[in-house]
Amino acid sequence: MNVLVVGGGGREHALVWKIAQSPLVEKIYCAPGNPGIASLAECVDIPVEKIAALCDFALDKRIDLTVVGPEVPLTLGIVDLFQTAGLQIFGPSKAAAQLEGSKGFSKDLMAKYGIPTAAYQCFTDRDQAVAYIREQGAPIVVKADGLAAGKGVIVATEVEQAVAAVDDIMLDKVFGTAGASVVIEEFMEGEEASFFAFTDGRRILPLASSQDHKRIFDNDEGPNTGGMGAYSPAPVVTEALYGEIVETIVRPTIEAMAKEGTPYSGILYVGLMIKDGKPRVVEYNARFGDPEAQPLLVRMKSDIVPVLSACARGELGDQRIVWHDKAAVCVVMASGGYPGSYTKGYPISGLDEAATLEDLVVFHAGTSTQDGKIVNTGGRVLGVTGLGASVAEAIAKAYQGVRLISWQGAQFRNDIGRKALNR
Ligand code: AMP
Ligand code: GLY
Repeated sequence: MNVLVVGGGGREHALVWKIAQSPLVEKIYCAPGNPGIASLAECVDIPVEKIAALCDFALDKRIDLTVVGPEVPLTLGIVDLFQTAGLQIFGPSKAAAQLEGSKGFSKDLMAKYGIPTAAYQCFTDRDQAVAYIREQGAPIVVKADGLAAGKGVIVATEVEQAVAAVDDIMLDKVFGTAGASVVIEEFMEGEEASFFAFTDGRRILPLASSQDHKRIFDNDEGPNTGGMGAYSPAPVVTEALYGEIVETIVRPTIEAMAKEGTPYSGILYVGLMIKDGKPRVVEYNARFGDPEAQPLLVRMKSDIVPVLSACARGELGDQRIVWHDKAAVCVVMASGGYPGSYTKGYPISGLDEAATLEDLVVFHAGTSTQDGKIVNTGGRVLGVTGLGASVAEAIAKAYQGVRLISWQGAQFRNDIGRKALNR
């Protein structure tokens, strides 16, 4: 079959890498892709938000299955468009992608169906939002309702900081229309984990556990990023907790979406806060996590293509996933200055040496080719992903790769996976 992957980051490189191993697949296209993906797929220069152009391309190339990486095309309705054109596509419809695209929608759904999450209220009026913040006190969390490229959440330690966030979002409209309404939410303490499940809208197939590292600096300090590294399995998710997450969060969410008339298919990403062994939802995403996809897909032993296509057909049936016993750790190497404005265009050295290491895969995210050289052009540049018999060995492998690779200004965390060792 012919497969099209939409996106061009580390997550999409990992998806293409995994899909390329399937005996069912003849040819892979990736739009727009990146230099790492180009060694496995034909990269097509169509941006992810040009969903009509992507649909024309898929019809022209007789694509049998399209797999969507990022959230933007999902919230624009790429799945609805492809399905109307008779094309098979993996991901939620526009209506179902609201689970990520509108925090108010997802909070109201959780409240209605008793899915554990932080207490909250939604506001379209600035003064009412501010009055609620003053009444509740700090710490408190302010969230722009819509998509804000991962920047729409402000965890405020002081009341005035929360008020300033509301003013930025609602008066100065720093996130545009995404800030027309805000969610003000209780601050939750605990340890975060990421949980994923494939679904066809009715049945669910949960993945192995994983954990992201959102802050830029070691020991979870500094500003939030898209994610500086991830590993799997994550021991914070014990076997008992895994079952509880499936039964009290994942299954009720999929059932709720079906009951609401917006059945959700694709992969559901639940961001969790775990405190005293109890999980609560921080947020939903309508897509695979990045970087969590990198360690998860490297650990996946069985073919992913039958699962993706079963979800797209709405017939997950009794599909199973077999996992490698090994652990996987992905260390993100980022450009200097990230997550603020960053330096770019520097040649990256060491990629060929890293490619000779066994049990190591270097996924490209923000790279480009300039004058025949690979240079850094994005915030998150590479996902150096190691496998090992334990998390400790996978950490050692990933950092062995990281030490071989460099460019001017490159930065990475030194403590990816350490939380797993401290347990
Ligand atoms: P989100 O964009 O919803 O993933 O939020 C970004 C980050 O903000 C999360 O990964 C958490 O670290 C933090 N966060 C969001 N909501 C809360 C909350 N209610 N309590 C504590 N931290 C939160
Ligand atoms: N790793 C966080 C995200 O994909 O949103």
